[in-house]
Amino acid sequence: MTEHTQVKTTQMNYDADRPRTENPLKVEDISLRDGHQSLFATRGRTEDMIPVAERMDEIGFWAVEVWGGATFDTMHRFLGEDPWQRLRTLKRYFKKTPFSMLLRGQNLVGYRNYADDVAKLFVKKTVDNGLEIFRTFDALNDYRNFETVVPVIKECGAHFQGCMCYTLTEPRLGGEVYNLDYYIKKARELEAMGADSICIKDMAGLMAPYDAYELVKALKASVKPLIHLHSHFTSGMSPLTHLKAVEAGVDIIDTCVTPYAYRTSHAALEPLVMALLGTSRDTGFDIRALADINEILEKEVMPKYKHLLDDTKVSLIDINVLLHQTPGGMLSNLVNQLREMDSLDKIDQVYHELPRVRKELGQIPLVTPTSQIVGTQTVNNVLFDTKEERYKMISGQVKDLCYGLYGKTSVPIDPEVQKKALKGYARGEEPISCRPAQVLEPELEKAKQEIGDLAKDDEDLLLYALFPVTGKKFLKQKHGLEKMPDSLKPVTIEDVKKQDALIKKAKAGELVEKPAFEKTENTRMFKVFVDEDCFEVGVEEQGGASVISHVAPAAGTSIPRTSVTEAAPAAPAAAKPKPASAPPDAAETAPAQSADTAQSTGTPVTAPMPGMVIRYEKQVGDAVEEGETVVIIEAMKMENALPAPKSGTIAAIHFDTGDAVARDDVLAVID
Ligand code: CO
Repeated sequence: MTEHTQVKTTQMNYDADRPRTENPLKVEDISLRDGHQSLFATRGRTEDMIPVAERMDEIGFWAVEVWGGATFDTMHRFLGEDPWQRLRTLKRYFKKTPFSMLLRGQNLVGYRNYADDVAKLFVKKTVDNGLEIFRTFDALNDYRNFETVVPVIKECGAHFQGCMCYTLTEPRLGGEVYNLDYYIKKARELEAMGADSICIKDMAGLMAPYDAYELVKALKASVKPLIHLHSHFTSGMSPLTHLKAVEAGVDIIDTCVTPYAYRTSHAALEPLVMALLGTSRDTGFDIRALADINEILEKEVMPKYKHLLDDTKVSLIDINVLLHQTPGGMLSNLVNQLREMDSLDKIDQVYHELPRVRKELGQIPLVTPTSQIVGTQTVNNVLFDTKEERYKMISGQVKDLCYGLYGKTSVPIDPEVQKKALKGYARGEEPISCRPAQVLEPELEKAKQEIGDLAKDDEDLLLYALFPVTGKKFLKQKHGLEKMPDSLKPVTIEDVKKQDALIKKAKAGELVEKPAFEKTENTRMFKVFVDEDCFEVGVEEQGGASVISHVAPAAGTSIPRTSVTEAAPAAPAAAKPKPASAPPDAAETAPAQSADTAQSTGTPVTAPMPGMVIRYEKQVGDAVEEGETVVIIEAMKMENALPAPKSGTIAAIHFDTGDAVARDDVLAVID
């Protein structure tokens, strides 16, 4: 037992009024952001946070993380929620506990560096809406990407928490790149920038307990700001790591309340509170109040999300993380991506190729967005490369990375890969070495002109500037120009109960005859898996209440085994086959043709993977050279330019910007 954890009192009771210690461990609760982002694809709704909000406000957390990361994207894209409204709503319930968010440096809450004018306005409006602590990170640990946001955070009187993304190339801390000296140097850089606290961001749960001890001790001896530990559970080490960090004198630890804990999320708060009870680092938290919060979440909230939990594995711990040093979320993305391509058998090749791609791309830390960039490129290489040629399909983001648009990589990028990626790159073939946002033109004025009256305030404008395609779609829904699709509406606890009851009946063989069922526009279809059986459940809105109108064994058994296919974690919305038709303007210039005739007479440009159409670079009637980009689709959050398979004229275009497409969908036809 160390000086930090000596038992100081014999009065080891649960009561919240037990004697306070001099240096209690500070705790940030991150259930309402990272918790549901890690466990159920960031689908947590504001209405499901309210039942516990006031109780959580009473616990005594140093802060609660409620915003940032993927929440901004997911809310407007999948939940029909205005992200800004969440902050304002929760603020009414959290009256004492400061709000923290995860800010991706110059990437803000998106996946690329935005221009300085967007970044400045974003920070300012975020403070205006109630945010107090900016946990700021850069995927490359290139703090030049903080230079724009930090002064604004400071000017607004908010707390600047600087992150060091914790990554490894070896099984333990050390090696040539990511060793103790590296992290101390990074911490000193953050201190020099005015960090109020420093967070070790262990997004993959790679930090071993004794490495945490050594690192925290060294940081406490080297820098003044509070030291904060964020270590995911994924590999199973984090409860041990937390305890060693406490012994080394860590100031703040991130945890989740039990229903939002473990797996790829974080260790639970309650065992930590009990473990420290009566010691000099006693949190002072009321364990009974925490139990109440648990009960509400278990009974009233979690049933609505259980279909999103990954129930394909019994084990809570991902051993692959220990073997491959990659974040759990990234591994599940890789698996999803391969599954969608019917190539799950290639997973071992992906594991093999991944460290190689990472090294070639500058041995970068693996965290959003670099984990997606490296992961998607690895899958592209495994699926599309030939013996003669590597990097056959390079994503737009890899090109940006090679250009220097994300910042400076930890080691130089492989020159051959860089050269290939930058061939014909629009910004230029010579990479930059300056602060990335320096080469970005201001974006706000242009966004303002494009979105016009649809943006009623700066918050709307930022939503559009950050996410032009999905943001615009959302603003139309928000302002009543388009109907909110039923697929964005919440599942109610009544829906869940009815589904469960019907599945029980179906399993007992009591639903022998297929009920008369007619699918209407109000019907939302779910695929529900029970053991090895798949049931199709139709839920219909009737006078405001959801009614299950249909349950039947699903046809075909080749469906990927996710509980509900409607909202697979981190995957684009399920693509619906769309009847092919020429766009209206094309009808005048070219005879309308059906997809069948188009396919039989021309050469199709097909989607190599499921995704969403970002934009067409060519229109009907345009001449196109072989290899020229016809259309850009977004898959797994990466933009992929699809080239023309032959020269000719675009005869048909079958989708619009924002449309979801399935693999092998014909996106365009070349004559
Ligand atoms: Co995290």
